[in-house]
Amino acid sequence: MKILVINGPNLNLLGTREKGIYGDKDYEDLCDYIKESAKELNLEIEVVQSNYEGGIIDFIHNAYNNFNGILINPAAYTHYSIAIYDALKGINLPTVEVHISNIHKREEYRKKSVTAEACVGQISGFGFHGYKLGLQALKEII
Ligand code: DQA
Repeated sequence: MKILVINGPNLNLLGTREKGIYGDKDYEDLCDYIKESAKELNLEIEVVQSNYEGGIIDFIHNAYNNFNGILINPAAYTHYSIAIYDALKGINLPTVEVHISNIHKREEYRKKSVTAEACVGQISGFGFHGYKLGLQALKEII
């Protein structure tokens, strides 16, 4: 079972950006955590990141026929990218949305997720552990 993990803009700045919200571990630590979790769950994964909407859309298109499911943190695009929503709907692979912070406990504009409407479900507020929960959920679903 192959899962594509997609991380959106500014997640490469983990460890530097707003540590009170996202913690002090960096992006490499996140990738290590995801890879370790996948190993434990016996899942094949690829982890990618882009700061561009089009880059994320290309990753999604490329997942069609190559992966069984997607775990995505669209970061700020979560809240307004109809293009990413359309891409996820377009390929129709089981997808779980994940957020490090609890987006429902933050600014009003973060409470709405456009992209979650194209997903099986959303995990939000469990830090890096949310990625493991997302992989577990995908394994069950697929
Ligand atoms: C985030 C939450 C988003 O609102 C924010 O724009 C991010 C990260 C999270 O993982 O908590 O960049 O997706």
